[in-house]
Amino acid sequence: MADTDGEQDTHDYHLDIAQTAPPFPLKGCHALDWGMKNRLSHIFDPRTGRTVMLAVDHGYFMGPTSGLERIDVNILPLLPYANTLMCTRGVLRALVPSTFNKGVVLRASGGPSILHELSNEHIAVSMEDALRLNVAAVAVQVFIGGEFETQSVHNMTRLVDQGNRYGVPVLGVTAVGKQLARDAKYMRLATRICAELGATYVKTYFVEEGFETVAAACPVPIVIAGGKKLPEREALTMAYRAVQQGAAGVDMGRNIFQSAAPIAMIRAVGKVVHENMPPQEAYEYYQTLAREAV
Ligand code: 5RP
Repeated sequence: MADTDGEQDTHDYHLDIAQTAPPFPLKGCHALDWGMKNRLSHIFDPRTGRTVMLAVDHGYFMGPTSGLERIDVNILPLLPYANTLMCTRGVLRALVPSTFNKGVVLRASGGPSILHELSNEHIAVSMEDALRLNVAAVAVQVFIGGEFETQSVHNMTRLVDQGNRYGVPVLGVTAVGKQLARDAKYMRLATRICAELGATYVKTYFVEEGFETVAAACPVPIVIAGGKKLPEREALTMAYRAVQQGAAGVDMGRNIFQSAAPIAMIRAVGKVVHENMPPQEAYEYYQTLAREAV
């Protein structure tokens, strides 16, 4: 029984102040439930509405990719500079300390290796296990135009149904087959299909011409993949152009962990994404940090 002796009268009702709710900073997400928004806030920095996701899930179909041979040695030191880690449940349980308290985006599709048809994926994680791991979102590959297009779309929609039940966002990852053109027309098609069918946010590739139309036509937030390793200045320029044209951040892997100075690179990417630092300035920032590291 609570001790009520000396309980003060309530009086401070601020009758002149209407109760308001601050707007949620991510486009297309205002109607989501509290838990879903809370999870998204572990991915996207609420101060900027943007994210630097560090993608290290390549092993789920590529095996020990260059730079990811030892995630404990090479990747854990980068975590203080990422908003979110994107990885598989195997790596999460085996290598990531449970004291890591930022968002985890869990790879939830898989099946084929690089030795087979990549679009033949299935759901590879149950929502129950994702919840057990307390993840901020699950990620699923969608192969528009691929041999197993419909199967991959159904993987996504099944995860969306389960995610909506439990408040877990779903990241639809547009995977572009080698035979398909990586242009704005394709990216508009793929990202819009993911959003229309319920993805909470979408990952796609930056395209040189017309990326702003891809971002504008997608009603939910878009993040870009880094793609194959580029010289650091080019990768920073790509990230800058993407966020200036409407992306809500990056989900970058090889351009960070295969950099000559990965910590310097992820910090420079953070400046571009969260502070709109122009690419040349970000590149000089990268160089300064890289020099200090040796
Ligand atoms: C695979 C993925 C990877 O996580 C991601 O695309 C790899 O990141 P990067 O291209 O920046 O190395 O989603 O399709």
